[in-house]
Amino acid sequence: MKVFQKLDDFLDFGWAQISRGKSDKKSPARHPTFVTSSGYGFPNARTLVMRRSNRKNNLIEFHTDTTSSKMLDLKKNPCAAIHIWLPKAKLQIQIHVVVEVKVGDITIPYWRDIPAKSRVAYGTIPNPGKVIESPLAYDHVPDQKRLAVLICDIQSIQLLLLGVKHIRAYYKKTTNWQGEWLSP
Ligand SMILES: Cc1cc2nc3c(=O)[nH]c(=O)nc-3n(C[C@H](O)[C@H](O)[C@H](O)COP(=O)(O)O)c2cc1C
Repeated sequence: MKVFQKLDDFLDFGWAQISRGKSDKKSPARHPTFVTSSGYGFPNARTLVMRRSNRKNNLIEFHTDTTSSKMLDLKKNPCAAIHIWLPKAKLQIQIHVVVEVKVGDITIPYWRDIPAKSRVAYGTIPNPGKVIESPLAYDHVPDQKRLAVLICDIQSIQLLLLGVKHIRAYYKKTTNWQGEWLSP
């Protein structure tokens, strides 16, 4: 088991795992849980594919359909949470983000990079989450205008490493990622 004595080393380890979300298709970091506030009491959590991460700019990127319910949530409240559990590393990562939503012509360069077979995720008819008559009573009409790029500006990262002795730490953008140890 890894034992971290330095906050910086622990954060480096956390970021190495986050970065694998894009580079390693088998990493559980590829499929984080993305949580928004519905504004009606219950939060909404769902799995998304991590499209990109950038430690230098503190950013994580996701793609979604403009008509999905998370878009309404984000319009009301751009603050969201990301959760990742890495069983092999025994590491939980909890991230708070403020989300900038990109839609319209600005997403054209992103659309060009999306393989044709994956574009079907943007343009389901009727809109995702709508009630339908039977399980397959929907269609796919891939449409660049239905692509929303979620640029998540990381505000804080919390790490929990399970071991004989658990280790937990909290890092904030406002303190330049200096970090502090927490009781697990
Ligand atoms: C493994 C997996 C990966 C997914 N990736 C995405 C994704 O990248 N973007 C997306 O919008 N939905 C993705 N989904 C579907 C979402 O979990 C969710 O059902 C959908 O976005 C509608 O969410 P909403 O109604 O809460 O907005 C994925 C689901 C699974 C199981």
